[in-house]
Amino acid sequence: MTTIIDGKKLAQEMRQALKIKVDDLRKQGLVPGLVVILVGDNQASHTYVRNKERAALDVGFLSTIVRLDADCSQEDLLSTIREYNQDDKYHGILVQLPLPKQIDTDTILESIDPSKDVDGFHPVNLGRLLQKNEAIVPCTPKGIIAMFEAYDIDLVGKKVVIVGQSTIVGRPMALLCLNRGATVTVCHSRTKNLAQETKAADILIVAVGRLHFIGKEHVKEGAVVIDVGINHDQNGKLKGDVNFDEVAPIASAITPVPGGVGPMTIASLLVQTYENALAKKPSNH
Ligand code: GUN
Repeated sequence: MTTIIDGKKLAQEMRQALKIKVDDLRKQGLVPGLVVILVGDNQASHTYVRNKERAALDVGFLSTIVRLDADCSQEDLLSTIREYNQDDKYHGILVQLPLPKQIDTDTILESIDPSKDVDGFHPVNLGRLLQKNEAIVPCTPKGIIAMFEAYDIDLVGKKVVIVGQSTIVGRPMALLCLNRGATVTVCHSRTKNLAQETKAADILIVAVGRLHFIGKEHVKEGAVVIDVGINHDQNGKLKGDVNFDEVAPIASAITPVPGGVGPMTIASLLVQTYENALAKKPSNH
C-alpha cells in the first residue's frame, strides 16, 4: 500500500500547535510580526502572498503586506527593507520572488537583516546551512524535512536524488539531506540519462516546474517521491511535476499536488517567523 503523505493535515497540526505558542508569547508581551513585500503584479505571487498573510493572521501574528509598483526602483525597495530592518515590531521580512528585471535579486536579499530573514535566502543563513549550522533555512526544504520526520522517513544512508538545482529548493534541500546522513545527487537540465539517476533513488525530490516531468520510468519500486511542482494542466487544474496516477502505484510514499508540499512551506514560514521573534525575547539576551 502506498502512503499518501498528507501535507495539508500535517501543516494544519503545525499551525494549531504554533497558535498555542503564539498565544503564550503574546501573554508575555511579544507578538511575532511578519512583513511580506510584493513588487509588481505577478498573478501567482499575489495568490502566494495573500495565502501567507491569511496564515500569519490565523496564528495570531502581526501581518503586513507592502505592495510596490512593478516599475519601482531598486532604491525604493532597499529603503522599504531598511525601514522594516529597524522596526522592532517585525521579526520576519519576506521579499516575494521573482522580482522585476530592473532589480538585482542578490542585492535585495543581502539587504535584509539576517536575523529577520524568514526565507533563509540571505548569504549568511545559506552559509550557515553549508557549515552544517542550520538556523534559518529555506521554507520549502524545511517543510519537506518536517514531513520526513512526521512520517518516520529516515535519511541516514539513503540515496536521495533531487531534480532541480534552484536556490529556493534544490540546493538547500541537498544540504539538509546531506546534513542528515543521506547520499545526495542533484540533477538538472544538463544531466545525462536522467532516468538512470532518478531510478537509483530511495527518495526522489522533484522541483523543476514542468507538468508531469517525472513518470513511472523514472522511479524505482518502493521509492519515496516528493513533488514540489505547482503547474496548471490544460483544464486549469493544479498538478505537480510528477505524474501522480502513474507513479503512486509503484512508490512506497508520495506527496499529492495540491495538499502536499505547498501547505508545509507556509507552515515552515510561520514557524521560522515565530522562532525569530522568540530569539528577540528579552529573557533570551
Ligand atoms: N517565490 C516562490 N517561492 C518563494 C519562496 O519560498 N519565497 C519567496 N520569497 N519567494 C518565492
